[in-house]
Amino acid sequence: MATSLQKHGPWALVTGASSGIGEEYARRLAAQGFNLVLVARRQGRLELLAQKLENQSQIQTRVIVADLSKSDCLDLIIEGTEDLEVGLLINNAGAALPGVFLKQSLEGRSAFVTLNVMTPMQLTHHFATKMVERKRGGIVLVSSVAGFNAAPYIASYAAAKSYLLNLGLALSEELAQHHVDVLVLAPGATRTEMIGTGGLNMKDANVPWMSVQRVVNVGMKSLGKKTVVIPGPMNHVFTSFLRRVLPKKLAMRIMARTMEPYLDEELR
Ligand SMILES: NC(=O)c1ccc[n+]([C@@H]2O[C@H](COP(=O)([O-])OP(=O)(O)OC[C@H]3O[C@@H](n4cnc5c(N)ncnc54)[C@H](OP(=O)(O)O)[C@@H]3O)[C@@H](O)[C@H]2O)c1
Repeated sequence: MATSLQKHGPWALVTGASSGIGEEYARRLAAQGFNLVLVARRQGRLELLAQKLENQSQIQTRVIVADLSKSDCLDLIIEGTEDLEVGLLINNAGAALPGVFLKQSLEGRSAFVTLNVMTPMQLTHHFATKMVERKRGGIVLVSSVAGFNAAPYIASYAAAKSYLLNLGLALSEELAQHHVDVLVLAPGATRTEMIGTGGLNMKDANVPWMSVQRVVNVGMKSLGKKTVVIPGPMNHVFTSFLRRVLPKKLAMRIMARTMEPYLDEELR
């Protein structure tokens, strides 16, 4: 079974729904008839999207404006969804924070870990508890190909995505007996706002780019069928090569050489 309203509905909550992969997830889920909770910081974008999807697909929506790098965001989301049956959680919001580890402030790193690790873990704990009680549901954790290897210059990002990868893999086993599907979606380079912002200028990089439509298509098809999926055959081959064929140290050097040219000067 792939993502289905019957198994994973009636409400889906998508974090980072204001752009990129999250916005595309919202569109695809609306087209299938899911009611949507849309979460991010940019209220205007969320409200515009919510309005469009309500009109196009005759669904209900709810917008929750929250900064997921702050520790109070969980309370906001719990309060905002208390009366809803959220059967599908898409943990998608994230940011990259590239650069030499010591050139970023500790405060920035901590907020980064809250956004990319703490918040998805807490949301998963909260919504999975209810899904287990209902004996149905689905959870998607958006990791990255970067999560399969240590990666200098995006060290915290790769480490955070590894956490999501391993959390998702383990939970897919733990929650299967409760009929809750868990999928780790691990995209490679995808054309979104994230590329070319925050000091990492990969817009013109010669890598196998994917569209958000292709990435989300793979995610939608894979929930309930697979536990981890890397969209795109080239991403799959490259990740397996780094992980399984090369010694770890060499793989890490290749990652470092790949990332460094795209960093802004002050982050090197
Ligand atoms: N693009 C890629 O090449 C790529 C590759 C692998 C994995 N990914 C992962 O895919 C996911 C989605 O990223 P994207 O590529 O679609 O980039 P994007 O277009 O920049 O989307 C990021 C989303 O996360 C939200 N977000 C960021 N910081 C937030 C915060 N502090 N609080 C609440 N929401 C926040 C943003 O909303 P607001 O700014 O409105 O808050 C936005 O909706 C991320 O987890 C990313 O790591 C991306």
